Amino acid sequence: MNPIYRHPELKDVDGMLNVEQSCFEPDEQMDRDDFVEVVNNVSAMSFVIDVDGEIAGMISCRTTDKDVLDNESYYEDLAPKATDTNLAVLGLAVLPKYQGAGLATELLKRAEAVAKTDGLTSLILDCRDRLIPFYEKYGFQLLRRSNSTFGDIKWFGMQKKLK
Ligand SMILES: CC(C)(COP(=O)(O)OP(=O)(O)OC[C@H]1O[C@@H](n2cnc3c(N)ncnc32)[C@H](O)[C@@H]1OP(=O)(O)O)[C@@H](O)C(=O)NCCC(=O)NCCS
Repeated sequence: MNPIYRHPELKDVDGMLNVEQSCFEPDEQMDRDDFVEVVNNVSAMSFVIDVDGEIAGMISCRTTDKDVLDNESYYEDLAPKATDTNLAVLGLAVLPKYQGAGLATELLKRAEAVAKTDGLTSLILDCRDRLIPFYEKYGFQLLRRSNSTFGDIKWFGMQKKLK
């Protein structure tokens, strides 16, 4: 396998949607328009993994001044603001056939590098309880329950301080 990590382009939207639909239940999926928004607004802080022309995984990020995400964070204007202090992971997924090979860890490293280059304070995300150990392994700490009700799931806000 020769994974190439690069910023997403409009030509990748179908592949990103395929990863999303392969990894999440219907009520917790981002849709095509969401990925177009990611490409148009936050491509510079997001990544896809290209394996021989197939999108094998992706991380979608935005900047925010919040320390824990809420519903609006996923939909409100994604364009970065000068007052934003944190880089938030809106979505992270790897196609099942590529899981367990360290690809998600590589995506997190790339997002973290962008956050550090941009002088941001923390990397943050919301996750469901079963993934808390995965993110703890990467250095995140559990902050508190999130107000997000996306997909009618209980979300937990996690943070990795960068400075
Ligand atoms: C979670 C996910 C992104 C991990 O991708 P991946 O490429 O398999 O992750 P990695 O190979 O980088 O795993 C890194 C470590 O975390 C562990 N890990 C992976 N998934 C895990 C999980 N669901 N729970 C606990 N630990 C997990 C791996 O065993 C590995 O540990 P190791 O280094 O000791 O072997 C992937 O399983 C996925 O897309 N799941 C469905 C979508 C999802 O839940 N995304 C997260 C939304 S909050």
